[in-house]
Amino acid sequence: KNIITYCFLYSTTLLASVVSSGLYFPVESQDGYARVEASFPSLPSVSVCVRAQFDPQHKKVSTLFSYAAPVFTNEFQLRGYVDKVKPQVLLALIVHGKHHSYKAWFTNDANWHHICVTWQKSDGFWAIYVDGVRRDSAAGKEVSRNIYGNGILILGQDQDSFGGNFTEPFVGNITDLNIWDISLDETQIRTIHDCSPALKRKPFFNWLDRNLTIHAVKEVPAKITPMLSNL
Ligand SMILES: *[C@@H]1O[C@H](CO)[C@@H](O)[C@H](O)[C@H]1NC(C)=O
Ligand SMILES: *[C@@H]1O[C@H](CO)[C@@H](O)[C@H](O)[C@H]1NC(C)=O
Ligand SMILES: *[C@@H]1O[C@H](CO)[C@@H](O)[C@H](O)[C@H]1NC(C)=O
Repeated sequence: KNIITYCFLYSTTLLASVVSSGLYFPVESQDGYARVEASFPSLPSVSVCVRAQFDPQHKKVSTLFSYAAPVFTNEFQLRGYVDKVKPQVLLALIVHGKHHSYKAWFTNDANWHHICVTWQKSDGFWAIYVDGVRRDSAAGKEVSRNIYGNGILILGQDQDSFGGNFTEPFVGNITDLNIWDISLDETQIRTIHDCSPALKRKPFFNWLDRNLTIHAVKEVPAKITPMLSNL
C-alpha cells in the first residue's frame, strides 16, 4: 500500500476492472461540488490527475476543477467543452488567469478518460495529457510566479469568487483525483495512467484518503478498466 499511495486502485493484473469510489454529478446545477480539503502551499510546479466520465449530452463549458487563491480567483483551472464539429470533448487549461485554447481532446463517448495537467514556473511549461498521451502543451514565459498558496480547490464548479459563486458546472463522474507539488513528465503520467507501482512520489492530495467536503453529488462505485497506454 505504501508504494502505490498515489493510485486509487491496486490490481495485480493491470487489465482487470477495478472499483473505487467516484463522485456522480448528476445534473447541471450550481449546487453540486466537492471541495478538496488540503492546505495548498505556494507552488512553483504542480500536477493534477483525475479520471472523468463526461455526460455526452452536456454541451456547455464543464469545469473539472477550479483552484482559486484569496488574492486571485482564476489561478488554475481545467475546463472541458464539447466540440461543435467533431464528436470530441476539448480541454483547456487556465493558469494565472490566462485561458489557453480548447485543444487537447478525447472522444465524447461517456467512457472514463484519464486526464492530467502539469505546470512549472521555471520555463512556464504546461501540458495536458489524456489517457497517458500528451495532447497539448506550450511554454509561456510571460508570467513567472508561483501558483498562490492557501487556495481552495473545487471539483465540478468554476469559482467566480473565492470559494463561491459557482458557475459552469461539470456533469458526469469523477474519481482518482491526485495532486502533486511537482511537474510530472510523460513517462510518470503514463505510469499513473497504467496504475503501475513505479512512481514513488507521494501526492499531497490523495484519492485514497479522499478528504473532501461534498455537496449535492453522490458517491458511487466507479468501475474502471485501465488500459496500457504503451501497448
Ligand atoms: C481533512 O482536512 C482538514 C482541513 O485541511 C483537516 O483539518 C483534517 O484533519 C483532514 N482530515 C483527515 C482525516 O486527514
Ligand atoms: C455516472 O455514474 C452514474 C452512477 O453510477 C451512472 O448512472 C451514469 O451513467 C454515469 N454518467 C456518465 C456520464 O457516464
Ligand atoms: C456572488 O453572489 C452573490 C449572491 O448572489 C452576489 O451578490 C455577488 O455579487 C456575487 N459575487 C461575484 C463576485 O460574482
